[in-house]
Amino acid sequence: MKLTLKESEISQSIKQTSSIEELEIIRIKYLGKQGLVTNELRILSSLSNEEKKNRGKELNKIKNFIEQEIFEKRNYLNKKKIDEKIQNEKIDVTLPPRDYLTGKIHPISQSVDKIINIFSQMGFNVADGPDIETDFNNFTALNIPENHPAREMQDTFYIHTDEKDPKVLRTHTSPVQVRTMMSTKPPIRIIVPGRTYRSDSDSTHSPMFTQCEGLFVDNKTTMSELKGCLIDFLKEFFEIKDLKYRFRPSYFPFTEPSAEMDIAYKKVNNVIKIGDGEDWLEILGCGMVNPKVLENCNIDSKVYRGWAFGMGVERLSMLKYGIKDIRSFFETDFRWIENYGFNPFDLNSKSGI
Ligand code: DAH
Repeated sequence: MKLTLKESEISQSIKQTSSIEELEIIRIKYLGKQGLVTNELRILSSLSNEEKKNRGKELNKIKNFIEQEIFEKRNYLNKKKIDEKIQNEKIDVTLPPRDYLTGKIHPISQSVDKIINIFSQMGFNVADGPDIETDFNNFTALNIPENHPAREMQDTFYIHTDEKDPKVLRTHTSPVQVRTMMSTKPPIRIIVPGRTYRSDSDSTHSPMFTQCEGLFVDNKTTMSELKGCLIDFLKEFFEIKDLKYRFRPSYFPFTEPSAEMDIAYKKVNNVIKIGDGEDWLEILGCGMVNPKVLENCNIDSKVYRGWAFGMGVERLSMLKYGIKDIRSFFETDFRWIENYGFNPFDLNSKSGI
């Protein structure tokens, strides 16, 4: 007896499947080894030629139809399975809402950032050195020999070791001048922001404080260049175009001639206003590098000349941000940092560096 296979019924049953397994059951039902279509095809040979031709055509058509329907449904189910998997494995990478303003940038970090920013625009590189220095780098190479009265200018923390060259907590960032000159060839153009230490503590002195050194060595360098560089720097740092300043002759063993730079200020309602006025505040030391220092660092002082400067970052910050006591920088008082700290997104660099 001839089996009737209705396309619409088969199509309906394929449509109703909801998994690859169910679909496979249907495929086996029709196209498997003992499947309905397969069995019908098998008995074709027992039919007359005419019947064979018609029935063969009919069965092939239905076979192709089923195969196509199953193929499409299988694709659909596979895609659905992958979509579901992706959906289930999705990770939410967005952060929960946060208060971005909780942390503050310390005013010293802000100032150092600003100093680096300004000097890097003038072509200076940042160099650094260790807080624990050799006596040679901190003093001797800088033309401050042992028993020289200049050593008393700085209340040094000595570190007692058995080594020949005693160690100190560096009293200034100037030893990085020595390190750099000993390890690189001129031209040298560096600034050195870093921590320094002296045994001293009151409202304007802290045993640990921050300095920024500057060093320029080349075969032609002049004092007027040094002055121009420092004037430009201070105007930019304090954001005061017509900043009133003066240079005073001074003495440092490592520079000759030496000078100190002052900026003018006045008190308005007991608050210091810098940039103008009749009083002066010392802001930095500077000078032409003493040829002896160049020679101590194996640089030919007949070929090369240099200038250098050193300034206290706390002092600069106190004046810029109106902070009265240097010790407050290091007291880690949360209310203080709330008040004097900076928003991390308040970028210093106008130039976008
Ligand atoms: N090192 C000096 C100090 O701590 C500051 C200083 C003065 C540095 C003059 C220099 C300089 O490089 O040329 O007091």
